[in-house]
Amino acid sequence: MFDIAIDKDQPPAEFYADLTSSAAAVVNGEPDAIANMANVAALIWQYMPNLNWAGFYRVVDGELVLGPFQGKVACIRIAIGSGVCGTAAASGLAQRVADVDAFPGHIACDADSRSELVVPIWNNGSVIAVLDLDSPLPDRFDADDEAGMVKLIGAIANSLG
Ligand code: SME
Repeated sequence: MFDIAIDKDQPPAEFYADLTSSAAAVVNGEPDAIANMANVAALIWQYMPNLNWAGFYRVVDGELVLGPFQGKVACIRIAIGSGVCGTAAASGLAQRVADVDAFPGHIACDADSRSELVVPIWNNGSVIAVLDLDSPLPDRFDADDEAGMVKLIGAIANSLG
């Protein structure tokens, strides 16, 4: 099995380098995208402090559909363009929201969520899914978190769809 140990307290560059290499290790050689999303959601959930939700929505027939995640039960279908996840999918750009209540159209799946980071997953020239991270703390995600997560997703995108 996997032998993963990541120091949560190290500086962001080192933390995200370790998280990325661990994510690459857990998806390595496995062709099933759902299994890989499940393990990556679990990995992020275990090592990133102050999250109340971590997981994936997949693009299926033109809308976002709930995929593997950790956290409370969540909205199942989200229209592309709607909420933070739908905006990330429509624009193809990461969305980092310091205060979800100030984001027009934010979809409140879990009333505990205060801030959110959503990273679109590009594969073969289109967005095939998004990674959604929610925190109960306002302004939980900074530019290092966004850059680190964008790189992590870029490194494993081929294994997620
Ligand atoms: N808040 C998200 C919806 C998904 S959940 O939080 C798990 C949004 O506005 O897209």
